[in-house]
Amino acid sequence: MKMLVIEDELSVRLGISCTLEKAGYRVMAADNGIDGIRLFETEHFDIVITDLRLPGANGIEVLKSIKNISSDTGVIIITAFADVKTAVEAMREGAYDYISKPFDPNELLIIIDRFIKHRGLVLENIRLKEEVRDKKQFQSIIGVSPVMQKIFETIDVVSKTDSSVMIYGESGTGKELVANAIHNLSPRKDKPFIKMNCAAIPENLLESELFGHEKGAFTGAVLRRKGKFETATGGTIFLDEIGDMPLALQSKLLRILEDQRFERVGGNESINVDVRTIYATGKNLKEEIKAGRFREDLYYRLNVLPIVLPSLRERKEDILLLVEHFMEMFAKKTGKTGLAISPTALEILKLYDYPGNIRELKHAVEMAVTFCKDNIIEPCCLPAEIREVEMEQHLTLICDNIPITEKVKAFERDLLSRALEETGGKKKETAKKLGISRGTLWRKLKEHGFPVSESEMED
Ligand SMILES: Nc1ncnc2c1ncn2[C@@H]1O[C@H](COP(=O)(O)OP(=O)(O)OP(=O)(O)O)[C@@H](O)[C@H]1O
Ligand SMILES: [Mg+2]
Repeated sequence: MKMLVIEDELSVRLGISCTLEKAGYRVMAADNGIDGIRLFETEHFDIVITDLRLPGANGIEVLKSIKNISSDTGVIIITAFADVKTAVEAMREGAYDYISKPFDPNELLIIIDRFIKHRGLVLENIRLKEEVRDKKQFQSIIGVSPVMQKIFETIDVVSKTDSSVMIYGESGTGKELVANAIHNLSPRKDKPFIKMNCAAIPENLLESELFGHEKGAFTGAVLRRKGKFETATGGTIFLDEIGDMPLALQSKLLRILEDQRFERVGGNESINVDVRTIYATGKNLKEEIKAGRFREDLYYRLNVLPIVLPSLRERKEDILLLVEHFMEMFAKKTGKTGLAISPTALEILKLYDYPGNIRELKHAVEMAVTFCKDNIIEPCCLPAEIREVEMEQHLTLICDNIPITEKVKAFERDLLSRALEETGGKKKETAKKLGISRGTLWRKLKEHGFPVSESEMED
């Protein structure tokens, strides 16, 4: 690990260099910005520690030059107390952290440790990403598991035909995504893709939504209106939650599919159907038939090409890739760069059972990205119901080369964060809950980087 110290004050420069050398790092130093940049141009450094106010180029200029040459070098800014605002600006320019003078050398070593750990995770995450890229994604559907690979093949074949497709799967397994993919790969891809959720529309409106109505067909029908089937002409119609379609309408749909023609509600004109139909349901249609809620003849008509999407718990090997995918998605959305996930957090995500399937995992990652500190997703950033797994499985005891002190620290941070959450951030109550004095709580909160102010601890 090689470090460059750029600092004009001799005593500070020597102090830092000495501390770093003692800690086993190789160190070079410069006493002004221009020499610092020159050194960096000739040699690679993993970390640069630079003062803000320097003769020659100032700290921000040094930072920008370094980031231009090597974006993964960590830059730590040293500031005088009055410069904190500029230091924050430096963070925006890509500095890793800043430290205010005067400081305890150990404080600097802690920041360096944190950077090294973070960079290790980022590199590991990049490696994983490269490993799982390419053929693991089909349209925007992610999956490495054999069952998903098989589904990709099926989608490919099915999209070239005009037959109706029935997609089965629990909530959040990607039924809509698959319907979209089929349309996008079909010869109808430039024509409309119209979607309707049969469970979300009141029964009395469903028919006119699907087939349209003539002016005056019923109270409120002041204008003639096209239905989804007409709008979708030439394209694809996706009827979601088909298992929830009322029986009367099921008969109508069956007749229309057989005749390939339909009339608007209250009209006589017969309109040709030129649409490809895709259906989806989370229900077991065979059981619905048995219970008398679904027409058997319609079932055979619709079930021409069935696709059954497995639940996420049946294909846990896809979790890693999905996590990567969603992390990237939400990193882009939130503008966070260098996001990484800790091995323990990933382990927890792999152990959970996901009753809400991929949608639930997606939301979990979104939450974790939003709340993570230092851009590292730790177990404490995950939703409570997923974190429960950790407790159940005593995951904190698993041997994974993470030093016990780190685990104890993570556990402590988790407890603090839960207690704060439960008390709505009230410090007095939090201390009581944790069975520690307010002084101890204050110290621990500071240690773990929770926001605290002196005044808060007095009341
Ligand atoms: N294999 C996958 N790869 C990437 N994202 C996925 C995958 N499967 C599902 N998703 C995402 O998860 C969310 C839920 O997917 P989708 O809406 O297609 O599920 P669904 O089966 O239609 O759910 P519901 O039954 O609740 O309507 C969406 O945001 C979707 O983009
Ligand atoms: Mg859906």
